[in-house]
Amino acid sequence: MEKETTCIHGGGRVANETGAIATPIFQTATFAHPGVNETTGYDYTRQQNPTREQLENRVAALEDAAAAFAFASGMAAVSALMDLFGPGGRVVCSGDLYGGTYRLFDQILSARGLSFEYGRDTEAVLALIAGAGARQNAGPGAGGTGAGAGAPVAVFLETPTNPMMNVFDIARIAGAAHAAGALLAVDNTFLTPYFQKPLALGADIVLHSGSKYLGGHNDTIAGFLAAGAGARLRGGEPVSERLRFIGKTTGAGLAPFDCFLLLRGIKTLAIRLGRAQENALEIAQWLTAQPGVTAVHYPGLETHPDYALSKKQASGFGAMISFSVKDAAAARRALERVKLVQYAESLGGTESLITYPMLQTHADIPEEERLSIGIDDKLLRLSVGIESVSDLIADLAGALE
Ligand SMILES: Cc1ncc(COP(=O)(O)O)c(C=O)c1O
Repeated sequence: MEKETTCIHGGGRVANETGAIATPIFQTATFAHPGVNETTGYDYTRQQNPTREQLENRVAALEDAAAAFAFASGMAAVSALMDLFGPGGRVVCSGDLYGGTYRLFDQILSARGLSFEYGRDTEAVLALIAGAGARQNAGPGAGGTGAGAGAPVAVFLETPTNPMMNVFDIARIAGAAHAAGALLAVDNTFLTPYFQKPLALGADIVLHSGSKYLGGHNDTIAGFLAAGAGARLRGGEPVSERLRFIGKTTGAGLAPFDCFLLLRGIKTLAIRLGRAQENALEIAQWLTAQPGVTAVHYPGLETHPDYALSKKQASGFGAMISFSVKDAAAARRALERVKLVQYAESLGGTESLITYPMLQTHADIPEEERLSIGIDDKLLRLSVGIESVSDLIADLAGALE
């Protein structure tokens, strides 16, 4: 089945006695038992619900995963992922992460005995996996100083990263992670399975903020984990089974109505992302030619340092761009002047959004670390939507004058 079809039909049909084309919203907390110790397959919605099951089957089909799990937010999914690992575990990360993920690692999970190290590029991540140059609890962008620790339990990558659009080599890092006995998890929020299939490149687990392209309409919050068929914990338990247990036990599953919205959003993923990417390439090229713009970070530009790697491991470049203007005053002016593009947090929806990472998505990263990644007062992040590209360029032109 081609991916455009999988968006609409993937994962078969759950509980479809009526023939309803749209998956019904099973708005029920509990399910009656047909007899003593008997079940219809559904007992209690925290554990499973037909609308959620349909959504999970669709996402599993899109990611070619053994199983997928839908959570109340992307952060709930990151949290459930880290519940796989116990105190003392070392996690190697890409050196540029969504600020909320960094906050969870730095302010909650570090206190519970997990340690996080960050590598700025593929080579730095490979060195950290090998144990060379690790610095425990070092902030994003760090790495390369201090003493190494034991073998990592996990590697966590965003690729492309939010917001700098750096690209990590998934296949090479998967090989090194597996050689060290670690699981590789990839946050695939920016490209989605429409453009990038981390499991096929060797990753064990894929994560999504479903609030972005999968939902696609800036109208709901959701998250996903999808586990590969061969992914196992060190004790041998399949990752998919452990995640199922964590999901039903910690209770952050996505509510039926939101599952319905996600199912509806995913149906149009292919055409939305295709159109948004076309717009993004045109806008990135246009931005490059603007005198007030000093840098453009978009992996679809041939000048991007990771252009070749992006072409090799993904079938598209996505629709996220970050760019720098001359100074902080110009950045603030642009945010105040945009009319069509909305100055708002988030990304991946039909509406184009512009964000000031320093004050919004990445505000919780300590200043020195934030600046070392490149997130300064001149950097703006643009989530390109599916409006007419000429209207978007006219709006940006007015804002950057
Ligand atoms: C790359 C990435 N991962 C995870 C998240 C967290 O997702 P959510 O906001 O759905 O909790 C975000 C949110 O912006 C994100 O951009």
